[in-house]
Amino acid sequence: TREEFVAELMGKMTIDEKISQLVQFTADGTVTGPKAGVNYIDEIKKGNVGSILNATGVKYTRELQKMNLDNSRLKIPLLFGYDVIHGYKTIFPISLGEAATWDTDAVALSARVAAEETAASGVHWTFAPMVDITRDPRWGRVSEGSGEDTYLGVQLAIARVKGFQGANLADLNTILACTKHFAAYGAAEAGRDYNTVDMSERVLRETYLPPFQATVDAGVATFMTSFNEISGVPATANKFLLRDVLKGEWGFDGFVVTDYTAINELIPHGVAKDSIHAGELALKAGVDMDMVGAVYLKFLKKSLQEGNVTEAQINDACRRILNAKYDLGLFEDPYRYNDDKREKQTIYKKEYLDAALHVANESMVLLKNENNVLPLNKNQKVAFVGPLVSDEWNIIGSWAATGDRYGYATSVEEGIMEVANKKNVSFEKGVEILKDDRSMIAKAVESARNADVIVAVMGEFENMTGEAASRSSIDLPGIQKEFLAELKKLNKPIVLVLLNGRPLTLEWENENMDAILEAWYPGTRGGAAIAQTLYGINNPSGKLPMTFPRNVGQVPIYYNHKNTGRPYLGPTDPEQKYKSRYTDVDNSPLFPFGYGLSYTTFDYSNLKLSANQINFNDTLKISVEVANTGNYDGEEVVQLYIRDKVGTVTRPVKELKGFKKVALKKGEKKTVEFEISSNDLRFYNIDMDFVAEPGDFEVFVGGSSATETKDKFVLVR
Ligand code: IFM
Repeated sequence: TREEFVAELMGKMTIDEKISQLVQFTADGTVTGPKAGVNYIDEIKKGNVGSILNATGVKYTRELQKMNLDNSRLKIPLLFGYDVIHGYKTIFPISLGEAATWDTDAVALSARVAAEETAASGVHWTFAPMVDITRDPRWGRVSEGSGEDTYLGVQLAIARVKGFQGANLADLNTILACTKHFAAYGAAEAGRDYNTVDMSERVLRETYLPPFQATVDAGVATFMTSFNEISGVPATANKFLLRDVLKGEWGFDGFVVTDYTAINELIPHGVAKDSIHAGELALKAGVDMDMVGAVYLKFLKKSLQEGNVTEAQINDACRRILNAKYDLGLFEDPYRYNDDKREKQTIYKKEYLDAALHVANESMVLLKNENNVLPLNKNQKVAFVGPLVSDEWNIIGSWAATGDRYGYATSVEEGIMEVANKKNVSFEKGVEILKDDRSMIAKAVESARNADVIVAVMGEFENMTGEAASRSSIDLPGIQKEFLAELKKLNKPIVLVLLNGRPLTLEWENENMDAILEAWYPGTRGGAAIAQTLYGINNPSGKLPMTFPRNVGQVPIYYNHKNTGRPYLGPTDPEQKYKSRYTDVDNSPLFPFGYGLSYTTFDYSNLKLSANQINFNDTLKISVEVANTGNYDGEEVVQLYIRDKVGTVTRPVKELKGFKKVALKKGEKKTVEFEISSNDLRFYNIDMDFVAEPGDFEVFVGGSSATETKDKFVLVR
């Protein structure tokens, strides 16, 4: 068995050999911080390394593996890790875009394809899924997660782990997943990356931790700590999080890696006086592997000799890491993922590109469509403009692994050429995102003068989102809006297509544009998905996984907020002062969580509950009829929310408890059913017990979190 094999191996290992398993260095790929003054090749040759990140490709990983084995007394293979977030070569929409599909199969498909390409390229381990709940769009990393909601986040986290890891890690098509960033990294104060987090244990457990726990239950192999402190204790030295909750309560038996140099950062955080102290805090808290920091390598043995850590702690970390290598089959054959022929045959398979297009199509969110300006028809003259109209760089987004950009990614222009009548379309940039250069505007405006419709493809430069990419303004950047204002003077319908990685503030755009399509960064086949959506080959069905605020002052804004003691009822509230409100903007968002239009329309009717009262062992059936009342076949994400009216602690005004994506042909009607029981109504009560409380509940069903289609029931003992 694995346990016997690893125990026997560890019986032969010296303390130095054990510590080396806890050490990870970066190769020359994407580096997101200092290199800790270490040459990874030298360290591999000295037998000092257990894992390498940022080395990719069969050839390179084989070379490094050989270098390691040639110098490893016990022939312990290296583990190769890499950030494969939304694809390895074939790039899918950014994670936030994938979340907008509200389709767990689509999200699992993306992870499976990513795993197959990654494993075929000599890499064993991805640093994904990122399951941080994100309620602040100023934070650049909202692009990497599933958005603001815990329930949606749980479902997508499970789908991703299953997609990456499959049923068996020994399978050559699967890789280790890594749930990150543990924990509450998304709650950084003011949306500034790496910033302080302070929150109650109730909010932590109820809102931020469930997606993490769900991945443990789904069998995730590894975890990554986060950079932030949480309530005064940095996550990387946080015994409560790592030993008590993760490895204790949840029974996680995989290994925990730090984020990049996060052990070293315990010094500036102010909890460690020097590196040796930092390493001790991390190991004692439950960190198994040191990413890049070289602290374990340099100091752990000394800490052991001085009695500040125990051999049992080092053994436990080493055992967990060796287990993972065993599960991958690396002890049987360290080169089993290094097959040149397989690599060539696997990368960019047609079925992968088709899958990427399918998921990209599903991720499109139609925010506005006045007078049905969309879909376009091929007889219309369309002027395509904007800085991203012919772009092959930004379209695949940030953290795009080894995804090729120029020459590989389908730009919007290329996508349009696949579907439109070439005589009827023109392409002009007009402006750049990052430069205040107005010299191209006149030509672009001219190109639009004789068009029937203008389509402006705009957004953020990809590196404005992702790590270390917080923004204090979340407007459309640069002079893009100015260009739109010039186009507006032509008095023609304008469609705004957005490529971006976070909710933006779009009040002006919403007032002045006829249609808005949120396309995120849709990936390698993204331009094709945008073109298919604009021309009606794809009917958009995406729904927002994060609230879009009216202005940045409303942030953090999320649908499942509390009611407060002075809830503001909106402009019809007879009491306008002394209510929980802004004096200069409504409380409501511009576009709520769960919102997204279609080219067709859906009508909800006949909401029915199987009972008005249930007890703790009952299941409540909820059904609703959804009809496609428009002119196109389409898909609708039917969403179920509840409100617990009175609790021993306050409850949110709405909580997502279920969703189903249903396909409805034009004119078709379907009954959609949900089931909930008292288990789904649990929360941390006044005594911090995770229980449901008897009382009154409201049930809401609809096409967004703003739905007011509701009924009610009572939960009794
Ligand atoms: O996985 C990432 C993490 O999300 C941010 N810091 C670097 C890690 C490895 O590249």
